[in-house]
Amino acid sequence: MAANWKMHLNRREAKTLVEDLLKAIDGTSNEVLICPPTLLFDTVQAACKGSKVATGVQNMHFADKGAFTGEVSAEMVKEAGAGYVIIGHSERRAIFGETDEMCAKKVLQADAFGLVPVLCVGESLQERESGSTTKVIDTQLNGSLEGFTPTSGDRLVIAYEPVWAIGTGKTATPADAETVIKHIRERLSEKYGERIANSVRVLYGGSVKPDNVDELMAQPNIDGALVGGASLEAESFARIVNFQVHAK
Ligand code: 13P
Repeated sequence: MAANWKMHLNRREAKTLVEDLLKAIDGTSNEVLICPPTLLFDTVQAACKGSKVATGVQNMHFADKGAFTGEVSAEMVKEAGAGYVIIGHSERRAIFGETDEMCAKKVLQADAFGLVPVLCVGESLQERESGSTTKVIDTQLNGSLEGFTPTSGDRLVIAYEPVWAIGTGKTATPADAETVIKHIRERLSEKYGERIANSVRVLYGGSVKPDNVDELMAQPNIDGALVGGASLEAESFARIVNFQVHAK
């Protein structure tokens, strides 16, 4: 279960949130990842010390270094102690002009520095309504994973986040999310073989809340969630981490 805090919280709130969360998820064997804003990373990293919670950032540049005002490099991210980096979030694609080509360079750079890329893909409402969801997903997967072959399934995470479901309160139905995620896994299988495709974590993101997580997690191909709004409160994110699925 991955938390994407986006551009929220201050240092004090971040520390309190992690402390409360760790108490609330004590004993879970589920994998948890927190991706705070980069400037709060050290606070989160320190608060997570001694726990199994992994940490990541929400973006980085693909170059080793250079005149890229405002950016951070993979080396900086790695040195800060992060294990993961979100790449190609729809907000980065839509607001900051990130392309599949840029994502592909970032994926390769993350991997070269031992960071696990959490690659986001997802269609807009218009694309869904015109029936081109799988075409859009295929283009994003092919473009953003160009040249990349993970050495094992735990070197890559994919997040399927339909753009129309992000921050809108509209969740894809569990069946719709499952259909697209199953499609993603089939494409991964074609690219990397079944063994790797079956062990890559494929997450669903878009208005995941305590009251819909159980149904989503009951789907066979959904391995977890990438959570925005509901990850900003310890109680709601803990309930998501502690999802309840009886037969999977
Ligand atoms: P919400 O959970 O707020 O819809 O955000 C989803 C998301 O974009 C996570 O990366």
